[in-house]
Amino acid sequence: MRTKIVVGNWKMNKTVEEGVGLTTAILELIGDGMADCEVGVAPPFTALDGVKRAIGRSGIRLVAQNCHHEDDGAYTGEVSVRMLDSLGCASVILGHSERRQLFGETSAVVNLKVKKALGAGLQAIMCVGETLDERERGVTEELVTGQVREGLDGVDDLENVVIAYEPVWAIGTGKTATPGQAQEVHASIRRTVRDIYGETVAGRLRIQYGGSVKPSNAAELFSMPDIDGGLIGGASLKAEDFAAIVRAACC
Ligand code: PGA
Repeated sequence: MRTKIVVGNWKMNKTVEEGVGLTTAILELIGDGMADCEVGVAPPFTALDGVKRAIGRSGIRLVAQNCHHEDDGAYTGEVSVRMLDSLGCASVILGHSERRQLFGETSAVVNLKVKKALGAGLQAIMCVGETLDERERGVTEELVTGQVREGLDGVDDLENVVIAYEPVWAIGTGKTATPGQAQEVHASIRRTVRDIYGETVAGRLRIQYGGSVKPSNAAELFSMPDIDGGLIGGASLKAEDFAAIVRAACC
């Protein structure tokens, strides 16, 4: 049995004060209802410390949205895994499609980041997914398989790796992949991982779905055999919606 994992990706939203308020509201709504699953929030870098304090001992995991692949040095505007670790981050989201599309991140760079994060003991949540054009051209499986293979190149142990399947056409658009569409790609990702790492590792790997997950569609998506939770954007900015999605995964 894989433990479901739900993470709220706040993107470039929320000041420190707002982030602390959101976290406090989420905690009040969730209470102790997350015993059977893993829940995390990914505020912007500036709010990580404040949100960490609000999280306290509740068990919610602090997640960063990105990191650099070097330890330190002349990289203006970047943040290293050592810095994230010292703030108490448990995980980091890597290769989000917005990073790939807007900031030119390639799978080779994502691979360096994954290795760096794992080396520092952080959980790496590696995002993959196709654009609408790629889906319409029928190359979804090929594309996603390539992203998984390149992103994990040279990674020996997947214990601390989570893959997030996020079809680009479903992110922030209100268009959700149907549970069937998502399941098909999740199953293909698991097959790819099985080909590289074998049955046991593939059986343990958690694959989250992301792309317009809402309280109204979460339970159905999470009921699919290869969908192990969600990476939630827009709906994670509202405590009620995020708590409802957590409940859908944890029950
Ligand atoms: P969305 O974003 O839920 O707003 O579609 C998901 C994501 O980008 O992680």
